[in-house]
Amino acid sequence: MVFEKDISKKIKSNSMHLSAFLLDWFDENKRELPFRKNRSLYSIWVSEVMLQQTKVDTVIPYFNSWMKKFPNIKSVAEASEENILKSWEGLGYYSRCRNFHKAAKIIVNDYGSKIPEDWDNFRSLPGVGDYTAGAVLSIALNKNYLAIDGNVKRVVSRITRRKKLSKYNLNYIRSFLSKNIDIIRTGDFNEAIMELGACICLPRLPKCRQCPLNSFCAGYKSGTPSNYPQKSVIKKVPVRTFVGGIIRFKDRILIQKRDSQMLNGLWEIPMKQVTLDSNYIFDFKKYIFDKYGYIISFKKIISEVEHVYSHFKMKLIVMDFINCDDVKNTGNSFSWIYKRDIDRYAFHRANHKVFKLFKSFNWDV
Ligand code: ADE
Repeated sequence: MVFEKDISKKIKSNSMHLSAFLLDWFDENKRELPFRKNRSLYSIWVSEVMLQQTKVDTVIPYFNSWMKKFPNIKSVAEASEENILKSWEGLGYYSRCRNFHKAAKIIVNDYGSKIPEDWDNFRSLPGVGDYTAGAVLSIALNKNYLAIDGNVKRVVSRITRRKKLSKYNLNYIRSFLSKNIDIIRTGDFNEAIMELGACICLPRLPKCRQCPLNSFCAGYKSGTPSNYPQKSVIKKVPVRTFVGGIIRFKDRILIQKRDSQMLNGLWEIPMKQVTLDSNYIFDFKKYIFDKYGYIISFKKIISEVEHVYSHFKMKLIVMDFINCDDVKNTGNSFSWIYKRDIDRYAFHRANHKVFKLFKSFNWDV
Protein backbone atom coordinates (compact mmCIF):
# COMPACT_ATOMS: atom_id res chain seq x y z
CA MET A 1 0.00 0.00 0.00
CA VAL A 2 1.51 3.25 -1.10
CA PHE A 3 0.18 5.39 1.71
CA GLU A 4 1.84 3.10 4.21
CA LYS A 5 5.29 3.68 2.85
CA ASP A 6 5.92 7.36 2.99
CA ILE A 7 3.83 9.66 5.01
CA SER A 8 6.16 12.62 5.03
CA LYS A 9 4.16 14.36 2.36
CA LYS A 10 0.96 14.27 4.35
CA ILE A 11 -0.11 17.68 5.39
CA LYS A 12 -0.87 17.99 9.04
CA SER A 13 -4.35 19.21 9.71
CA ASN A 14 -6.31 20.60 12.61
CA SER A 15 -4.90 18.34 15.31
CA MET A 16 -1.41 19.80 15.37
CA HIS A 17 -1.44 19.87 19.11
CA LEU A 18 -2.04 16.23 19.71
CA SER A 19 1.53 15.31 18.86
CA ALA A 20 2.88 18.22 20.92
CA PHE A 21 0.95 17.04 23.99
CA LEU A 22 2.04 13.49 23.38
CA LEU A 23 5.71 14.29 22.86
CA ASP A 24 5.88 16.60 25.89
CA TRP A 25 4.47 13.79 27.99
CA PHE A 26 6.91 11.29 26.46
CA ASP A 27 9.92 13.54 27.06
CA GLU A 28 8.97 13.88 30.71
CA ASN A 29 7.73 10.39 31.48
CA LYS A 30 9.30 7.79 29.23
CA ARG A 31 10.74 4.78 30.96
CA GLU A 32 14.48 4.38 30.99
CA LEU A 33 14.95 1.23 28.97
CA PRO A 34 18.23 -0.29 27.80
CA PHE A 35 17.22 -0.08 24.16
CA ARG A 36 16.56 3.64 24.57
CA LYS A 37 20.23 4.28 25.32
CA ASN A 38 21.88 2.98 22.19
CA ARG A 39 19.76 3.95 19.18
CA SER A 40 21.64 1.99 16.55
CA LEU A 41 19.67 0.31 13.80
CA TYR A 42 20.89 -3.06 15.04
CA SER A 43 19.95 -2.60 18.70
CA ILE A 44 16.53 -1.11 17.89
CA TRP A 45 15.84 -4.01 15.57
CA VAL A 46 16.82 -6.56 18.23
CA SER A 47 14.55 -4.84 20.75
CA GLU A 48 11.60 -4.63 18.37
CA VAL A 49 11.86 -8.31 17.48
CA MET A 50 12.01 -9.26 21.16
CA LEU A 51 9.14 -6.93 22.07
CA GLN A 52 6.70 -8.59 19.67
CA GLN A 53 4.13 -10.45 21.79
CA THR A 54 6.34 -9.95 24.85
CA LYS A 55 6.26 -7.47 27.72
CA VAL A 56 9.05 -4.96 28.25
CA ASP A 57 9.97 -6.34 31.70
CA THR A 58 10.47 -9.80 30.27
CA VAL A 59 12.55 -8.50 27.37
CA ILE A 60 15.04 -6.37 29.34
CA PRO A 61 17.34 -9.13 30.67
CA TYR A 62 17.25 -10.96 27.33
CA PHE A 63 18.09 -7.77 25.47
CA ASN A 64 21.00 -6.96 27.78
CA SER A 65 22.60 -10.35 27.54
CA TRP A 66 21.97 -10.60 23.79
CA MET A 67 23.77 -7.31 23.18
CA LYS A 68 26.76 -8.51 25.20
CA LYS A 69 26.91 -11.80 23.39
CA PHE A 70 26.02 -10.53 19.91
CA PRO A 71 27.10 -6.87 19.69
CA ASN A 72 26.48 -6.57 15.95
CA ILE A 73 24.76 -8.22 13.02
CA LYS A 74 27.92 -10.08 11.96
CA SER A 75 28.18 -11.84 15.30
CA VAL A 76 24.61 -13.09 14.87
CA ALA A 77 25.28 -14.33 11.34
CA GLU A 78 28.39 -16.18 12.49
CA ALA A 79 26.73 -17.87 15.48
CA SER A 80 25.25 -21.35 15.23
CA GLU A 81 21.48 -21.72 15.43
CA GLU A 82 21.97 -23.71 18.63
CA ASN A 83 23.86 -20.81 20.17
CA ILE A 84 21.34 -18.12 19.25
CA LEU A 85 18.40 -20.27 20.34
CA LYS A 86 20.14 -20.70 23.69
CA SER A 87 20.13 -16.91 24.11
CA TRP A 88 16.44 -16.80 23.19
CA GLU A 89 15.52 -19.71 25.45
CA GLY A 90 12.38 -18.92 27.45
CA LEU A 91 11.37 -15.87 25.39
CA GLY A 92 9.00 -17.95 23.25
CA TYR A 93 7.92 -17.52 19.62
CA TYR A 94 11.22 -18.95 18.44
CA SER A 95 10.52 -18.30 14.76
CA ARG A 96 11.34 -14.65 15.54
CA CYS A 97 14.83 -15.72 16.51
CA ARG A 98 15.32 -18.07 13.56
CA ASN A 99 14.15 -15.40 11.12
CA PHE A 100 16.49 -12.86 12.69
CA HIS A 101 19.35 -15.31 12.27
CA LYS A 102 18.42 -15.84 8.59
CA ALA A 103 18.16 -12.09 8.05
CA ALA A 104 21.59 -11.55 9.64
CA LYS A 105 23.14 -14.04 7.22
CA ILE A 106 21.51 -12.32 4.26
CA ILE A 107 22.82 -8.95 5.46
CA VAL A 108 26.37 -10.29 5.76
CA ASN A 109 26.24 -12.07 2.39
CA ASP A 110 24.26 -9.59 0.29
CA TYR A 111 24.72 -6.21 1.96
CA GLY A 112 28.35 -6.34 3.14
CA SER A 113 27.19 -6.59 6.79
CA LYS A 114 25.38 -3.25 6.63
CA ILE A 115 21.73 -3.35 7.61
CA PRO A 116 19.70 -1.87 4.73
CA GLU A 117 18.19 1.49 5.58
CA ASP A 118 15.54 1.71 2.89
CA TRP A 119 12.01 0.35 3.25
CA ASP A 120 12.00 -2.13 0.37
CA ASN A 121 15.22 -3.93 1.21
CA PHE A 122 14.69 -3.92 4.96
CA ARG A 123 11.05 -5.01 4.65
CA SER A 124 12.06 -7.92 2.41
CA LEU A 125 14.19 -9.56 5.13
CA PRO A 126 12.83 -12.70 6.84
CA GLY A 127 10.56 -11.88 9.77
CA VAL A 128 10.30 -8.18 8.94
CA GLY A 129 6.68 -7.09 8.48
CA ASP A 130 5.13 -3.64 8.18
CA TYR A 131 5.20 -3.09 11.93
CA THR A 132 8.86 -4.04 12.41
CA ALA A 133 10.03 -2.10 9.36
CA GLY A 134 8.06 0.99 10.43
CA ALA A 135 9.18 0.82 14.04
CA VAL A 136 12.86 0.17 13.34
CA LEU A 137 13.30 2.67 10.51
CA SER A 138 11.40 5.40 12.34
CA ILE A 139 12.90 4.89 15.80
CA ALA A 140 16.50 4.31 14.71
CA LEU A 141 16.64 6.63 11.69
CA ASN A 142 13.69 8.96 12.26
CA LYS A 143 12.24 7.96 8.89
CA ASN A 144 8.65 8.82 8.15
CA TYR A 145 6.85 5.54 8.66
CA LEU A 146 4.09 4.50 10.99
CA ALA A 147 4.43 1.64 13.48
CA ILE A 148 1.05 0.28 14.48
CA ASP A 149 1.06 -2.42 17.11
CA GLY A 150 -1.68 -3.57 19.50
CA ASN A 151 -1.07 -0.72 21.95
CA VAL A 152 -1.27 1.90 19.21
CA LYS A 153 -4.51 0.40 17.87
CA ARG A 154 -6.04 0.56 21.33
CA VAL A 155 -4.98 4.16 21.99
CA VAL A 156 -6.28 5.45 18.66
CA SER A 157 -9.48 3.43 18.73
CA ARG A 158 -10.24 5.11 22.07
CA ILE A 159 -9.37 8.59 20.87
CA THR A 160 -11.57 8.12 17.81
CA ARG A 161 -14.16 5.89 19.52
CA ARG A 162 -13.83 2.97 17.13
CA LYS A 163 -15.57 -0.09 18.50
CA LYS A 164 -14.51 -2.76 16.07
CA LEU A 165 -11.03 -3.28 14.71
CA SER A 166 -12.51 -3.89 11.26
CA LYS A 167 -10.53 -3.36 8.09
CA TYR A 168 -12.33 -0.04 7.62
CA ASN A 169 -11.49 1.11 11.15
CA LEU A 170 -7.88 -0.03 10.88
CA ASN A 171 -7.55 2.15 7.79
CA TYR A 172 -9.22 4.94 9.71
CA ILE A 173 -6.68 4.53 12.53
CA ARG A 174 -3.84 4.54 10.03
CA SER A 175 -5.00 7.74 8.37
CA PHE A 176 -5.62 9.36 11.77
CA LEU A 177 -2.00 8.62 12.68
CA SER A 178 -0.75 9.85 9.31
CA LYS A 179 -2.48 13.16 9.91
CA ASN A 180 -1.22 13.51 13.45
CA ILE A 181 2.32 12.18 13.34
CA ASP A 182 5.04 14.68 14.13
CA ILE A 183 7.08 14.71 10.94
CA ILE A 184 10.14 16.10 12.68
CA ARG A 185 10.14 13.41 15.37
CA THR A 186 8.46 10.43 13.73
CA GLY A 187 10.32 7.80 15.73
CA ASP A 188 9.57 9.50 19.02
CA PHE A 189 5.94 9.93 18.02
CA ASN A 190 5.59 6.19 17.26
CA GLU A 191 7.37 5.23 20.44
CA ALA A 192 5.36 7.70 22.51
CA ILE A 193 2.02 6.24 21.43
CA MET A 194 3.27 2.74 22.22
CA GLU A 195 4.48 3.99 25.58
CA LEU A 196 1.13 5.63 26.27
CA GLY A 197 -0.58 2.31 25.50
CA ALA A 198 1.81 0.41 27.76
CA CYS A 199 1.72 2.80 30.73
CA ILE A 200 -1.48 4.89 30.66
CA CYS A 201 -4.06 3.72 28.14
CA LEU A 202 -4.20 0.26 29.68
CA PRO A 203 -6.58 -2.37 28.31
CA ARG A 204 -8.80 -2.78 31.39
CA LEU A 205 -8.27 0.21 33.65
CA PRO A 206 -6.92 3.15 31.67
CA LYS A 207 -5.44 5.98 33.73
CA CYS A 208 -7.32 8.68 31.85
CA ARG A 209 -6.74 11.44 34.37
CA GLN A 210 -3.00 11.14 33.81
CA CYS A 211 -3.33 10.94 30.05
CA PRO A 212 -1.88 13.84 28.04
CA LEU A 213 -4.42 13.17 25.30
CA ASN A 214 -7.60 13.03 27.36
CA SER A 215 -8.87 16.31 25.95
CA PHE A 216 -8.69 14.77 22.44
CA CYS A 217 -10.20 11.45 23.45
CA ALA A 218 -13.78 10.67 22.42
CA GLY A 219 -13.61 7.42 24.40
CA TYR A 220 -12.73 9.31 27.57
CA LYS A 221 -15.52 11.79 26.95
CA SER A 222 -17.97 8.91 26.51
CA GLY A 223 -17.27 7.89 30.12
CA THR A 224 -16.49 4.30 29.14
CA PRO A 225 -13.08 4.37 27.45
CA SER A 226 -12.36 0.72 28.11
CA ASN A 227 -15.27 -0.22 25.82
CA TYR A 228 -13.01 0.77 22.93
CA PRO A 229 -12.03 -1.28 21.09
CA GLN A 230 -14.51 -4.04 21.70
CA LYS A 231 -12.87 -7.18 23.05
CA SER A 232 -12.75 -10.01 20.60
CA VAL A 233 -14.33 -13.22 21.82
CA ILE A 234 -11.61 -15.36 23.32
CA LYS A 235 -11.53 -18.73 21.66
CA LYS A 236 -11.18 -21.65 24.02
CA VAL A 237 -7.94 -23.43 23.22
CA PRO A 238 -8.01 -27.22 23.09
CA VAL A 239 -6.12 -29.22 25.70
CA ARG A 240 -3.60 -31.77 24.49
CA THR A 241 -2.16 -34.36 26.85
CA PHE A 242 1.43 -35.47 26.59
CA VAL A 243 3.56 -37.83 28.60
CA GLY A 244 7.20 -37.01 29.09
CA GLY A 245 9.90 -39.15 30.63
CA ILE A 246 12.85 -38.24 32.74
CA ILE A 247 14.77 -41.29 31.62
CA ARG A 248 17.78 -41.80 33.81
CA PHE A 249 20.91 -43.81 33.33
CA LYS A 250 23.26 -43.50 36.29
CA ASP A 251 23.64 -39.73 36.65
CA ARG A 252 22.53 -38.78 33.18
CA ILE A 253 19.20 -38.19 31.48
CA LEU A 254 18.05 -38.58 27.91
CA ILE A 255 17.12 -35.46 25.93
CA GLN A 256 16.09 -35.10 22.30
CA LYS A 257 16.20 -32.28 19.80
CA ARG A 258 12.98 -31.27 18.10
CA ASP A 259 12.75 -31.55 14.36
CA SER A 260 9.33 -30.12 13.60
CA GLN A 261 7.73 -26.87 12.61
CA MET A 262 6.90 -25.97 16.18
CA LEU A 263 9.88 -25.18 18.44
CA ASN A 264 12.27 -26.60 15.87
CA GLY A 265 15.85 -27.05 17.07
CA LEU A 266 15.01 -26.81 20.76
CA TRP A 267 15.72 -29.63 23.19
CA GLU A 268 13.23 -31.49 25.38
CA ILE A 269 12.85 -34.60 27.45
CA PRO A 270 11.34 -37.35 25.28
CA MET A 271 7.61 -36.80 25.08
CA LYS A 272 4.62 -38.12 23.24
CA GLN A 273 1.03 -37.03 22.79
CA VAL A 274 -1.46 -39.48 24.33
CA THR A 275 -5.08 -39.78 25.37
CA LEU A 276 -5.79 -40.19 29.04
CA ASP A 277 -7.83 -43.35 28.49
CA SER A 278 -4.91 -45.10 26.78
CA ASN A 279 -2.27 -47.24 28.45
CA TYR A 280 0.13 -44.36 28.15
CA ILE A 281 2.95 -45.80 30.27
CA PHE A 282 3.10 -48.82 28.00
CA ASP A 283 2.76 -46.59 24.92
CA PHE A 284 5.61 -44.36 26.07
CA LYS A 285 7.91 -47.33 26.73
CA LYS A 286 7.13 -48.63 23.25
CA TYR A 287 7.77 -45.18 21.78
CA ILE A 288 11.23 -45.09 23.38
CA PHE A 289 12.02 -48.62 22.28
CA ASP A 290 10.94 -47.91 18.68
CA LYS A 291 12.80 -44.61 18.52
CA TYR A 292 16.00 -45.41 20.41
CA GLY A 293 16.00 -49.16 21.01
CA TYR A 294 16.14 -48.69 24.80
CA ILE A 295 14.18 -50.81 27.24
CA ILE A 296 13.11 -48.55 30.09
CA SER A 297 11.55 -49.35 33.40
CA PHE A 298 8.77 -47.21 34.86
CA LYS A 299 9.37 -45.90 38.41
CA LYS A 300 6.66 -43.37 39.15
CA ILE A 301 4.63 -40.43 37.98
CA ILE A 302 6.41 -37.32 39.24
CA SER A 303 3.85 -34.63 38.54
CA GLU A 304 1.95 -32.75 35.89
CA VAL A 305 2.90 -29.43 34.30
CA GLU A 306 0.82 -27.17 32.11
CA HIS A 307 1.92 -24.79 29.44
CA VAL A 308 -0.23 -22.60 27.22
CA TYR A 309 0.72 -22.09 23.58
CA SER A 310 -1.15 -19.80 21.21
CA HIS A 311 -3.27 -22.61 19.75
CA PHE A 312 -3.42 -25.26 22.47
CA LYS A 313 -2.81 -25.93 26.11
CA MET A 314 -0.31 -28.65 26.92
CA LYS A 315 -0.85 -30.94 29.88
CA LEU A 316 2.37 -32.82 30.41
CA ILE A 317 2.47 -35.83 32.70
CA VAL A 318 6.07 -36.19 33.82
CA MET A 319 7.24 -39.69 34.65
CA ASP A 320 10.38 -41.16 36.08
CA PHE A 321 12.06 -44.04 34.24
CA ILE A 322 15.31 -45.96 34.55
CA ASN A 323 17.03 -47.01 31.38
CA CYS A 324 18.03 -50.65 31.61
CA ASP A 325 20.47 -50.66 28.69
CA ASP A 326 23.93 -49.28 28.38
CA VAL A 327 24.01 -45.91 26.63
CA LYS A 328 26.90 -45.75 24.24
CA ASN A 329 25.23 -44.36 21.20
CA THR A 330 24.18 -40.76 20.89
CA GLY A 331 23.38 -38.79 17.75
CA ASN A 332 22.89 -35.20 16.73
CA SER A 333 19.28 -35.34 17.69
CA PHE A 334 19.54 -36.91 21.13
CA SER A 335 21.97 -36.91 23.98
CA TRP A 336 22.56 -38.34 27.45
CA ILE A 337 23.43 -35.34 29.55
CA TYR A 338 24.61 -34.81 33.11
CA LYS A 339 22.37 -32.84 35.39
CA ARG A 340 25.01 -30.13 35.74
CA ASP A 341 24.97 -29.62 31.93
CA ILE A 342 21.25 -28.92 31.64
CA ASP A 343 21.88 -25.20 31.31
CA ARG A 344 24.07 -25.69 28.26
CA TYR A 345 21.12 -26.70 26.09
CA ALA A 346 18.22 -24.58 24.82
CA PHE A 347 15.00 -26.16 26.02
CA HIS A 348 11.49 -24.98 25.30
CA ARG A 349 9.47 -23.50 28.12
CA ALA A 350 7.41 -26.52 29.15
CA ASN A 351 10.72 -28.22 29.87
CA HIS A 352 11.86 -25.47 32.17
CA LYS A 353 8.85 -26.29 34.29
CA VAL A 354 9.91 -29.94 34.20
CA PHE A 355 13.44 -29.11 35.31
CA LYS A 356 12.15 -26.94 38.12
CA LEU A 357 10.24 -29.95 39.33
CA PHE A 358 13.21 -32.10 38.73
CA LYS A 359 15.44 -29.97 40.95
CA SER A 360 13.16 -30.65 43.89
CA PHE A 361 13.00 -34.32 43.03
CA ASN A 362 15.39 -36.83 44.54
CA TRP A 363 17.69 -37.65 41.68
CA ASP A 364 19.36 -40.53 43.50
CA VAL A 365 16.32 -42.71 44.18
N1 ADE B 1 6.64 -1.88 22.25
C1 ADE B 1 7.29 -2.20 21.13
N2 ADE B 1 8.26 -1.32 20.90
C2 ADE B 1 8.22 -0.43 21.90
C3 ADE B 1 8.98 0.71 22.22
N3 ADE B 1 9.98 1.07 21.43
N4 ADE B 1 8.65 1.39 23.31
C4 ADE B 1 7.63 0.99 24.09
N5 ADE B 1 6.90 -0.08 23.85
C5 ADE B 1 7.18 -0.79 22.76
